[in-house]
Amino acid sequence: MKIKTQFTCTNCTYKTLKWLGCCPECKEWETFEELKSSASSQPATKTFKAGAIQSTRAAQMVPLNQVQSATKARMLSGISEWDRVMGGGIMPSSLLVLTGDPGIGKSTLLLQVCNALAQNYRVYYFSTEESLQQVKQRASRIECMSDNLFFSDQPALDVILATAEQEKPDILIIDSIQNCFIPGAQSLPGSIGQLRESTFQLMRLAKENGITIILTGHITKEGVIAGPKALEHMVDAVFYLQGEDRWHTRVLRSVKNRFGTINELGFFEMDHNGLQEVPNINAQLLSEASHAPGSVLVSVMEGSRPFLLEIQALTIETKMTMPQRVISGLDHKEVVLIAAILEKYLHIKLSSHDIFVKVSGGFKIKSSATDLGIALALLSSYFQQPLPEQSIAIGELSLTGQIKPVNQINAFVKEAEKFGIKQLLVARNQKLDSTKIERKAFQNVFELLSLFKE
Ligand code: TYD
Ligand code: MG
Repeated sequence: MKIKTQFTCTNCTYKTLKWLGCCPECKEWETFEELKSSASSQPATKTFKAGAIQSTRAAQMVPLNQVQSATKARMLSGISEWDRVMGGGIMPSSLLVLTGDPGIGKSTLLLQVCNALAQNYRVYYFSTEESLQQVKQRASRIECMSDNLFFSDQPALDVILATAEQEKPDILIIDSIQNCFIPGAQSLPGSIGQLRESTFQLMRLAKENGITIILTGHITKEGVIAGPKALEHMVDAVFYLQGEDRWHTRVLRSVKNRFGTINELGFFEMDHNGLQEVPNINAQLLSEASHAPGSVLVSVMEGSRPFLLEIQALTIETKMTMPQRVISGLDHKEVVLIAAILEKYLHIKLSSHDIFVKVSGGFKIKSSATDLGIALALLSSYFQQPLPEQSIAIGELSLTGQIKPVNQINAFVKEAEKFGIKQLLVARNQKLDSTKIERKAFQNVFELLSLFKE
């Protein structure tokens, strides 16, 4: 019998015929071990013969109109920032992942959400990282001691699965999946191999038993959930909890959601009583905006929600041979391009100026609807004249210097109306629902000069 030698990575179960120092899949070093197997024990390639089909059970095919539609109600926690990011509450029987840096507040947020959900659902919380004493300490601090919320510090996956199958809770939490282990598995706990296997088994548990499962996971140094997006494609939804140090704000963001929009943002503030919702983030953003030369308000869509943000620009004659362009929160090339358009058509010498541009609140904007805002911020700083008070700029810019209309403007305008914005700066041919906000329209960049005195 021919003996075939294979090597397998003990971290992620990647297989290769030659020994390798570094695993090409998970990039771990010295993880390959020899795996001997006889050629005959390899699974035979399946060939379908007419006779063989009889022994296999055939699937029963049905037209869709005979499938009962499952219209289960979404699970609402009443914490509206959370519920919105979930896509209007959690979809029952789904498998969700909540991830973020260690210490960002994942366990705190989950505990608060579970406590709220426990009013209507039975919740089983497996704390694989912290002891029950530690969990209790946190729970009593933030007053989350519901009778319908049950805890265990059991980290073995088979025990967790057996408990869930037997007792069928509505919601199962594993905090964190990296600390959960599969007894007897070849790979290490927390390795990609184990994570994949555990997630696969949990997905089956969720779908077969109608249990909603939330897993937490840390982000690795490379900024991904434990390995190269190992979990993201296997689960129904992935949420990131991120820190905005400047405001002590935590942002919950949906990066994948089979049952809702992605990039939906929820805002929380960490205080001594856990995470508190920040229901009106636009009010906070606007209160920080200044009416000064170089400042302009724009609006961008994140998920299903419009945000009102301030772009700040500073242009100053350069002292160097190469002018500087320091840009944060916006696409570097986009800003350079807009500066070039302004220079070309308005004959202003931006190429001999250093340009600094940033977005307030540490936001990162990727939307062409802010082109007009960037152009106006640059002009406003260049001429050292502020833009009209309480105005907002929404429009695209073409390479030929034309101002173009944008989609979804009505959502932006409605939000702007709520906050008492008085003037819209938009494209001449922008279609718009009726609004009480005054409109100032421009066809091309040349007309923008009318906003500034000679
Ligand atoms: P935690 O939820 O344990 O983070 P994670 O699960 O993401 O690792 O939160 C840890 C931090 O939050 C910790 O530094 C203490 C702080 N914290 C508060 O400031 N207030 C509170 O009420 C709680 C419970 C935690
Ligand atoms: Mg934790």
